[in-house]
Amino acid sequence: MRIDVLSIFPTYFDGLALSLLGKAQSSGILDLTVRDLRDWTSDRHRTVDDTPYGGGAGMVMKPEPWALALDDLASAAPSPSEQGPTIIFPSPAGEVFTQATARDLSTREHLIFGCGRYEGIDERVFEYASSLGEVRLISLGDYVLNGGEVATMAMIEAIGRLIPGVVGNPESLVEESHEDGLLEYPSYTKPSSWRDRPVPDVLLSGNHKAIAAWRRDQQIERTRARRPDLLADESED
Ligand code: ADE
Repeated sequence: MRIDVLSIFPTYFDGLALSLLGKAQSSGILDLTVRDLRDWTSDRHRTVDDTPYGGGAGMVMKPEPWALALDDLASAAPSPSEQGPTIIFPSPAGEVFTQATARDLSTREHLIFGCGRYEGIDERVFEYASSLGEVRLISLGDYVLNGGEVATMAMIEAIGRLIPGVVGNPESLVEESHEDGLLEYPSYTKPSSWRDRPVPDVLLSGNHKAIAAWRRDQQIERTRARRPDLLADESED
C-alpha cells in the first residue's frame, strides 16, 4: 500500500518509523511518505493560510497549495488505479473512524491524508479533491484536536496493522477488541499469583473449551459494563 501524508508539521510523523510500521516500510509492504505542504507554496514566506471570508476568529488554509500538492500526489502513483487515490481529511466534522473504517481503508492501493490546521481548509478543496479520487472526511471522535496530524497517525497505525504481513501473527488480529463487535477479554501472564492476586483458576485448568467460554463471558460482561452502546448496536441489526 502507498500512503502519502500532507502536513505543515512533517516531523510529527517520525514515530511511524518505529516498531511494526517501521518494519513494514523497510520490507516494502508499506510505502509511506510524509510531505511538507509548504513545498507547494510559491511566496517567500511559504504561506499556507489567510483570513476567513465573512470574518471570524483564526485563519483558514488557502486552497492553491492543497490543489497543487494533490495534483502531484494523485498523478505520481506507480500504477494509478482507475478510481484514483482515497483522499482522507481528518476533521472533527467527519464520519467517525471505527475498526470497520480501518478494515475498509486497509484494502485500498493508495491513501492520501491531508492534515488541516488552524480553523480548517477552504471548503472548495474537498470538492476539487473529489475530481482526483474518493474523498473522506473522518473524525477520530467527538473532541477537538489542534490539527489532523495526531488523528492521521492513529488512523495509519490502525489501518497499517491490518495490511497482510504487517503483524507477524495474524491470529492476534482476530481476538482483539472491536474485531467481533465486543471488547477484548482480560489477559494474564506469570506469576500465577501476584501480590495476593491470583490468575482466574479456569485459565490454569488446561480445559480449552472452558477457557473459550470464560473468555467469551468476560467479553460480554466488559462490553456491557464499559460500552453498552456496542451491544445496543448489535441488537439493532
Ligand atoms: N482535527 C481536529 N480534531 C479532530 C478529530 N477529532 N478527528 C480528526 N481530526 C481532527
